[in-house]
Amino acid sequence: MKTVILIGALGKMGQAALSGLGNHKVITAGRSGDVDHIVDITDVNSIEALYKKVGHFDAVVNTVGFCEYAPFAEMTEEQWRTTVMSKMMGQINLVRIGQKYIADAGSFTLISGILNVKPIPYAIADATASGAIDTFVKCVAYEMPRNTRINVINPTVLAEAWDVYGEMMPGFEPVPGKLVGKAFERSVDGFITGEVIFVDA
Ligand SMILES: NC(=O)c1ccc[n+]([C@@H]2O[C@H](COP(=O)([O-])OP(=O)(O)OC[C@H]3O[C@@H](n4cnc5c(N)ncnc54)[C@H](OP(=O)(O)O)[C@@H]3O)[C@@H](O)[C@H]2O)c1
Repeated sequence: MKTVILIGALGKMGQAALSGLGNHKVITAGRSGDVDHIVDITDVNSIEALYKKVGHFDAVVNTVGFCEYAPFAEMTEEQWRTTVMSKMMGQINLVRIGQKYIADAGSFTLISGILNVKPIPYAIADATASGAIDTFVKCVAYEMPRNTRINVINPTVLAEAWDVYGEMMPGFEPVPGKLVGKAFERSVDGFITGEVIFVDA
């Protein structure tokens, strides 16, 4: 049994990840609500405080990455900045700071999303941040200390989120959260590193 910090636990992707972490002691974290620890991934002090409060942990699973949606011509710099500071820098900072605290041979699992390989209108900021995270994971895996691993889950839309995103995504087939949970399980329980784990229908 590993001690796993699950960030964004109350979100749709967080619940999908949780379904794959049944063998572990899961410590939940998020920005609000009924979680073990409150954390804001856009705030480096908040990230550092989370790791210090938890103490020993073997894995970090992050499912948070806020994105703004708009046509490229209308997307403001502020909207770009908000997306980059959450989905890109928020996740990079979770690893940059977390590498000092995580147990030997621990693992980080991040979130991206299929829109960087299957683009749709309005999603340029999400797609760009997801592509950056996929690249970050593939390349930083060579530099991770003390046999720690890092992977990213790149899922298509969840069946549980189809009512929200379905209209924006004609021609896409949603996947059940339980299947995406298996991808998180493979990252946390396996030995792979530097991988983008796609879950698509
Ligand atoms: N849903 C899908 O089908 C799908 C598919 C592929 C990829 N993704 C990606 O998965 C990620 C999560 O999506 P989701 O559908 O799970 O969203 P969601 O249901 O809205 O959940 C997001 C969770 O993240 C928390 N959060 C937001 N900003 C935070 C911050 N700065 N620090 C800490 N927690 C924060 C939210 O807390 P509050 O409620 O307090 O704001 C909420 O609990 C996104 O990057 C999305 O692009 C989603």
